Amino acid sequence: MAVRGQSRGQPASQKQEDTMNKQELIAEATAARLKAYTPYSNFKVGAALQTRDGKVFHGCNVENAAYGLCNCAERTAFFSAFAHGYQPGDFDQLVVIGETDGPIAPCGACRQVILELGGDELPVLLTNLKGDILETTAAEQLPNGFGRADLKK
Ligand code: THU
Repeated sequence: MAVRGQSRGQPASQKQEDTMNKQELIAEATAARLKAYTPYSNFKVGAALQTRDGKVFHGCNVENAAYGLCNCAERTAFFSAFAHGYQPGDFDQLVVIGETDGPIAPCGACRQVILELGGDELPVLLTNLKGDILETTAAEQLPNGFGRADLKK
């Protein structure tokens, strides 16, 4: 399938589609989750971040023996996309999945990062292995969030 934005780097071994429906993106996040490195929590989280030009970046949580260095799936997905040349405003949808009772709740640090890198209106679909879904946005997940504009006041 044709992919726009060829000047940007290619995400390694990730599916490329012009459009991907929500179920397909959930399947991508589910696959990403299996790549999590979680020897400490054994709590695996997956994320799929779709770009406006039709690429999908996987994110998974990556833990460390120095616990404070653990990186969540959501931030892994965004940082991977930025490492491939993407910038704020370049994203269509974020999906996050974990083995939770209800739809997974992103941590506060991730909500902050999602808001700045994804933008206020970014659609965020939160789900779990049972198929419960919460469709929300970056700004809904962090009301009154601190951002770039606050630094200029
Ligand atoms: N975690 C995520 O990756 N995303 C979330 O939305 C919640 C928490 C990770 C961090 C850590 O590796 C493990 O889950 C337990 O907190």
